[in-house]
Amino acid sequence: MLSTLRPAAARSALRRQAATTAQAIQIANASTWANVKEGPPDAILGITEAFKKDSFPEKINLGVGAYRDDKGKPYVLPSVRTAEQKVVSSSLDKEYAGITGVPSFTKAAALLAYGPNSKPIQEDRIAITQSISGTGALRIGGAFLERFYPGAKTIYIPTPSWANHKAVFSDSGLEVKQYQYYNKDTIGLDFEGMIADLRSFPDGSIVLLHACAHNPTGIDPTQEQWQQIAKVMKEKSHYPFFDMAYQGFASGDTNQDAYAVRLFIEQGVGLCLSQSFAKNMGLYGERVGAFSIVCDSAEEKKRVESQIKILVRPLYSNPPVHGARIASEILNDAGLNKQWLGEVKGMADRIIEMRALLKKNLEELGSKHNWDHITNQIGMFAYTGLKPEQMETLAKEHSVYATKDGRISVAGITTDNVKRLAESIFKVTG
Ligand SMILES: Cc1ncc(COP(=O)(O)O)c(C=O)c1O
Repeated sequence: MLSTLRPAAARSALRRQAATTAQAIQIANASTWANVKEGPPDAILGITEAFKKDSFPEKINLGVGAYRDDKGKPYVLPSVRTAEQKVVSSSLDKEYAGITGVPSFTKAAALLAYGPNSKPIQEDRIAITQSISGTGALRIGGAFLERFYPGAKTIYIPTPSWANHKAVFSDSGLEVKQYQYYNKDTIGLDFEGMIADLRSFPDGSIVLLHACAHNPTGIDPTQEQWQQIAKVMKEKSHYPFFDMAYQGFASGDTNQDAYAVRLFIEQGVGLCLSQSFAKNMGLYGERVGAFSIVCDSAEEKKRVESQIKILVRPLYSNPPVHGARIASEILNDAGLNKQWLGEVKGMADRIIEMRALLKKNLEELGSKHNWDHITNQIGMFAYTGLKPEQMETLAKEHSVYATKDGRISVAGITTDNVKRLAESIFKVTG
């Protein structure tokens, strides 16, 4: 075909052909993933890395959201040890669980969240599935809402929220928007802002609510404020998605921490719920959780549960059994359950005590700042109000590591390091 072209046209056609061939060779030699750009490291894991590199013996890591005992060591609950021994010694087989997991676990998880007097439980209208801890529950929920929610596929999350919420829900195909939650001037709840936002959203919006121990701020609405939130949510026909990652861990009382969820149910508001047993049972790496939807009838529950199964099957087929069996022992055995509730209270109390000690030490150092928020907040984290530059100085000059937003994991504070921590905070805040 080139021979029919004039010389100049033939030369340029040859050059084009050569360029295309070179490009093809280049593509053939290049890796399939040549265009994949390196993403940013996970903020929390980055802190752990920096902490590990620091050779100062009195360094403090307040980044990770995992409980530590007063010696700064990971804590396996004695009730978990006993339950695990029971599971192992019963020599169960390792067959697959059903798609929705270990039934004795999910049944007990629902009872723990919704309470023994729950009408939806009595009327058998809660669709529930075991999940890969709280994150997996949120992801199943996100996917279910994306597929079936009749209104706009937008979920509103608080500002700020757990760092993973946005990624979980946008990867589920939902649009993620925010509502006002934190007031940086009062280091407290921006209740008016929150209510105003809830009122301004289109009717029937999906709203993510932290059931207790809001992460990262540690600031929860009071019971009176929850009542008003429920009222507005009902008036606007908004749909609540509760994330309960810390039941019992906040106040030390699993019923008190479930107040908001149970209030909404009493008010007749339909909802869905994510539960995690990572913190309250210390089962972090076992990945034990549950996702549930409160339906209008047992017949509706059947339909919803069938679709949850259809969603889960191509994701991971069925969940792991070991952790769920441990949790099931603890929730179903009266003696173990009592012991566990005492241990949860022990963890919550240690955190509450460390909050008080940190505040006391700061005051004794003569800090002019008001540190009431440290003891007013609840749960694993304290939102100190420290600025990113101050957090950087804390890390660089005092070997105290935590996230740039000023959040510290109170679980990382011990009677041995609290004084040095207070001195460091005092030095950077003046
Ligand atoms: C608010 C909140 N939701 C969900 C989770 C999920 O945790 P996990 O997947 O370990 O249960 C966490 C963990 O830190 C959390 O803080």
